[in-house]
Amino acid sequence: MSTKAAPGQSGAGRFESALLDVRPLAGALGAELWAPDGEPLDVTTIDAAGCAAIREALCTHHVVVIRDQQMDAPALAHFGRRFGELERHPYLGGTAEEPEVVPVIKEPHETVNFGGGWHSEMSFLECPPMATALYAVEVPSFGGDTLFANQQAAYVGLSDTMKRFAESLSAVHSAARQYGRRGDSDRYAGQRSSMKVQVSDEAHAQLTHPIVRTHPETGAKALYVNRAFTETISGMRRHESKALLEMLWSHAVGEQFTCRVRWEPGTLTMWDNRSVQHYALNDYHGQRRHMLRVTIAGDRPR
Ligand code: SIN
Repeated sequence: MSTKAAPGQSGAGRFESALLDVRPLAGALGAELWAPDGEPLDVTTIDAAGCAAIREALCTHHVVVIRDQQMDAPALAHFGRRFGELERHPYLGGTAEEPEVVPVIKEPHETVNFGGGWHSEMSFLECPPMATALYAVEVPSFGGDTLFANQQAAYVGLSDTMKRFAESLSAVHSAARQYGRRGDSDRYAGQRSSMKVQVSDEAHAQLTHPIVRTHPETGAKALYVNRAFTETISGMRRHESKALLEMLWSHAVGEQFTCRVRWEPGTLTMWDNRSVQHYALNDYHGQRRHMLRVTIAGDRPR
């Protein structure tokens, strides 16, 4: 069996910087960032030029992985604020000292994980976060990786006819299936008890985003539909919307568009929610995984 080469990381190719050693993770997206001498970066002391270089690497590679950090909730919040205002999750509780920092924990006895399905971060908000930073405090001895899919490459991978059609459409998003009454958080409450999740009627509120969005910093187009939060395509009959969404959801996360981050304690990964979907694998039953997460405020998708 053979496959056609997938469109790779942003058209501009690999990001080069005198301040970073950028090591791509996969053809589609993702890069590890190291200091130019090959040593780990220290994001707690990085200067403005270093932050600008990380931001450029993020826009080019969509997912950046920084190994060997020593962080707690305030340090992660401080890092996130270097890139913009932090977003407070409407349905998830934060740490006592930093309400915007959400502990993402799965205990050995729990069966349901957080983020265990393809999604684009909080696409149910009018202005979803532009980026997420996730820091690994404790990781299982195997499994618990996070998958990412490059939605700009997924857009490029559509036929010209489907590109034009998708660009003419918008879709309805809501948090109902995750945080609404009888949604996943409601049904699995007992199996995901270490996360402070609030089920709410407000999660049923709906709003509309374009199916193809344009990256505000690079101008690149990306598909913007995800199984967790996209409900229907505006202006279509139910069966039409269902069939087209099914095709787009599956296409968007084809393996040729993905990379996989293997966590170690001290790994900090930041991803661009304007160009990726992600998926936290739940394949480490009986082991503990403890992460800290912040999201950085973004623009309304256009
Ligand atoms: C998330 O969906 O933000 C969590 C990702 C992860 O835990 O790997």
